[in-house]
Amino acid sequence: MADKLVPVHVAVIMDGNGRWASQRNLPRIAGHSAGAKSVEEVIKAAKESGVKILTLYAFSTENWKRPKYEVDALFKLLENYIDSQTEILIKNDIRLSAIGRIEGLPDTVQRKLKSVMDKTMSGSSLLLNLALNYGARSEIVDAVRAVSKDCVAGKADPDRIDEKDFSGYLYTKNLPDPDLLIRTSGEMRLSNFLLWQLSYSEIYISKKMWPDFKKDDFIEALNEYRNRQRRYGG
Ligand code: FPP
Repeated sequence: MADKLVPVHVAVIMDGNGRWASQRNLPRIAGHSAGAKSVEEVIKAAKESGVKILTLYAFSTENWKRPKYEVDALFKLLENYIDSQTEILIKNDIRLSAIGRIEGLPDTVQRKLKSVMDKTMSGSSLLLNLALNYGARSEIVDAVRAVSKDCVAGKADPDRIDEKDFSGYLYTKNLPDPDLLIRTSGEMRLSNFLLWQLSYSEIYISKKMWPDFKKDDFIEALNEYRNRQRRYGG
C-alpha cells in the first residue's frame, strides 16, 4: 500500500544557480552545470524515498529573455544530461517525460527528448517530468484554445465543463496535482509554475541555492511534509 506520508508528486523550482556562481566569482553557466549535479542527486533521492513523480522546472517561457549564450548553454546542458543519463534512467526504471511548448524548443533538443522519452517509456519506478519552455499562463491559454475548439466541434458542452474536465486539457492531464512544491534560494514566488495544479500543494522553501541542494535537503523537505496537515480548504 502507498505510504500516505510520502508525497506522490513533488514539483521543484530549481532557483539560485546564477547567485551560487556569482558568490564564487564564477560565470552563471558554472552555476547551471553545478545545478545539473543536484538534479541527478534529487532524482536518486526521490526514487529511493518512494516519490512517484518528480516535476522539475528546467526552462521557463520567460527564460528566453536571458542572453543567448546562457540560453544556448542551458540547452547544451540538457542535451548532455540526456546523452549521459539515458542508460542510467533505463537501468533505474525511470521514465522521462516533458511538459511545456515542446515544439518551441530547438530541433536538436526536441529530437533528443523524443528519443529518451521513447527509450524510457516502460520505466515505472519514477516519472521524471521536465518542464521545458513551460509557463503556466501559456498552458492555461493552450487549454482554453483546445476546450474552445472542442466546443465549436460539438465535442464538449460549454455549460458542462467542470474542473476535472478542464484539468484534462492541461499538459499535466495524466498526472495527479503535486502534493509538495519545493523552491530553493529562499525566494517565495510561484514564477508562473503550475498555477492551476499547485492550488492545494504544500510549499517548502529552502534557503539553499539549487547547486547546494542535495539528497539530505530533499529528505528534509519530505520530513517536513510528513508533519503538515493537508486541509484542502476544509
Ligand atoms: C534558476 O537559476 C535555474 C534555471 C533557470 C535553470 C535550471 C537548470 C538546471 C538546474 C540545469 C540543468 C537541468 C537539467 C534538467 C539537466 P537562476 O539562473 O535563475 O539563478 P539566479 O536566480 O540566482 O540568477
